[in-house]
This record gives sequence, C-alpha cells and structure tokens, in this order.
Amino acid sequence: MEHHPLGRTGRDVSVIGLGTWQLGSDWGEVDEADAHAVLDASLDAGVTFYDTADVYGDGRSERLIAQLKKTRKEEIIVATKAGRRLPKQTVEGYSRENLNAWIDRSLKNLCTETLDVVQLHCPPTELYNRAEVFGMLDDLVKAGKVRYYGVSVEKVDEAIKAIEYPNVQTVQIIFNCFRQKPADAFFARAKQKNVGILARVPLASGLLTGKLHVDSRFESGDHRNFNRHGEHFDVGETFSGVDYKTGLEAVEELRKLVPAGTSLTEFALRWILMFDAVTCAIPGGKRPPQVAENCKASDLPPFLEDVMRKVKGVYDARIKPLVHSRW
Ligand SMILES: NC(=O)c1ccc[n+]([C@@H]2O[C@H](COP(=O)([O-])OP(=O)(O)OC[C@H]3O[C@@H](n4cnc5c(N)ncnc54)[C@H](OP(=O)(O)O)[C@@H]3O)[C@@H](O)[C@H]2O)c1
Repeated sequence: MEHHPLGRTGRDVSVIGLGTWQLGSDWGEVDEADAHAVLDASLDAGVTFYDTADVYGDGRSERLIAQLKKTRKEEIIVATKAGRRLPKQTVEGYSRENLNAWIDRSLKNLCTETLDVVQLHCPPTELYNRAEVFGMLDDLVKAGKVRYYGVSVEKVDEAIKAIEYPNVQTVQIIFNCFRQKPADAFFARAKQKNVGILARVPLASGLLTGKLHVDSRFESGDHRNFNRHGEHFDVGETFSGVDYKTGLEAVEELRKLVPAGTSLTEFALRWILMFDAVTCAIPGGKRPPQVAENCKASDLPPFLEDVMRKVKGVYDARIKPLVHSRW
C-alpha cells in the first residue's frame, strides 16, 4: 500500500482508504459480524484512512470504527462529518450550539477525546461565505476537540471557495472516471495550497466495478433503489449522478481499456491515483474480498498517457455533456 501526505497535517495516509457509509445505512443490510470483517480486512490490506459521518446509521458507522480501534493497534486516521443531523439544511443550522453538540456526540461515538478530522457534510452553498462557521471550527481545534477540519462538497465552486479558509485541511469531492471536472477546475489550486483531497464515490456506487446490468436489483434499503435521481438526498451521489443506462454503456467502453489480469474495479481506482493532487480514494467496500480488491489498485503500475487519453475520451463523448456543467 502506498501512502500520501494528508495535506499540511504532517500525517501520511494510505492512498486507498475505506468509506464506511455502507457500514451504517442506505446500502442494504450489513450485520455486525460482516461490518467487523470489512474493517479488519481493511487494516489487513494496509488501510490507514477511514471516512465516516455522524449520520451513517445514526452513528453506527462511527461506533463500529471505535470498536476497531479497541481491538486493533494499528495507527489510523478517522475523518467524520457533521451537519446532516439537521432536519433541513440551512446556514443558520450551522450554529455554535449545534456544531458543539454534533462534535460531542461524535467524540462519544468514536470513544475519543479528539476527533482526527471533522468535515462539514455537504452544507448549503451559502455557508462557504460564512467565515464565522469556519471560526467556530477553529475554536473547536483550540478547545482540543478537533485536530483538523475540512469540507465534503457537492460542487467544484464550493471546493474552490472552501480552500480560501486557511485552516481547511481536506476537501472531499466526487471524483471518478465519470466525474472528471475536479481535475480540470480544482486540483491545481488544491495542490498549490497543499490541501488533502479525498475522492469519494470512486466506483460510482458500484457502476465502475463492471458488475451491474440493466436488470440488476438492489435491496429495498439500498439508495441505489430509491435515490437514483436525488429524490431522497442529493442528486449526484447515487451512481455519482450519472444516468444508469448511460453509465452502463460507458462502462463497456472502459472495459476495453483494462489490461488482462486487472479488474475494472482496480483500473477505476488506479485511474484516480494517477492524479497527484489526490491524497486518497475512499471506496465503500461492503465485503472483505471487495476491500482486498480495492486495495490492490495501489499496487498497479501507472497508466500510459494513451490510456489516460482514452478514459478522457469516454468521459468527453458519453458523460461530460450530461454532468460537467451541473456542478
Ligand atoms: N456527502 C458525502 O460526504 C458522501 C457521499 C457519498 C459517499 N461518501 C463517502 O464515500 C464513500 C464511498 O462512496 P460510495 O460508498 O457512495 O460509493 P462507491 O465506493 O463508489 O461504491 C460503493 C459500493 O460499491 C460496491 N463495491 C465496492 N467495492 C467493490 C468491489 N471491489 N467489487 C464489487 N463491488 C464493490 C459495494 O456495493 P455492493 O456490493 O452492494 O454492490 C459498495 O457499497 C462512502 O462510504 C462515504 O464514506 C460521502
């Protein structure tokens, strides 16, 4: 497993992390034993960076990670998120009182005195103009409750605005073969400021594993059933906002570029790691073999320029007209 520095924090993290939304909710049932097996498998494969949130399973994901930290001695960094406990997303909801309460709850769930990283969890766009909220996060750092903070954004412009705040250490953003805009419009700026970039939804909710078909079915509690077009939370998360059928067709084009002996999953993750601004990709492996496969992406050799050009060609022809201008 390769490692990259996490922005200016002075800490290194594995280039493949583990996203843990699926251990909380919205991806169908993952029982306790399966969740622990996934977490153990990730440590066995060299993962040292974990992304979670206070709302994943109403704290279940955070609590599972706390148990992992009790049973295993490896040094890890846990990045949680705050803000989505609000019944409705409003800028006013990001008050000092609410922030303090969310952080206290995450401290309890994660059984720690200091949270490694706290990310604002896709707050409203207007919040990025409210310096006072970032001041409150500074105060939480001063109080010793939070070590570093960052943001998880929906839109590229939000990411650009967020890194104007000098203590924003990380930006989590959708980045995969189907969502390439950050490479054009954001990465150079982030690199200049030495901000850590966390690539979320790296497998486009499983589309980029190549295992899904027109007639694939998902459990009733799986957001791939009920949020395809952003009906229940943000547009852009489920299947990374790409129309399912269009995504399947583009996957067939990508499949032709995958060398023998490599899976499309490994290929899709290695593609992300070709961008040196990216600190770490955070695929949400749901079973131990998936986690092991995802981590193997770190061992693949770099892609030739021609392969990168062809992946961009698939994006430009099939996906870009549908998503690029939307975020
Ligand atoms: N707003 C936010 O801040 C936000 C939003 C979304 C995600 N995230 C973070 O990003 C992480 C990853 O994003 P994501 O979970 O949306 O999407 P993802 O990583 O693109 O896809 C995850 C899903 O793909 C399937 N999968 C994973 N590895 C696989 C493998 N090797 N082979 C076959 N299938 C595999 C699994 O589902 P099946 O096995 O059921 O197919 C898994 O649940 C989340 O866990 C979360 O930490 C944050």
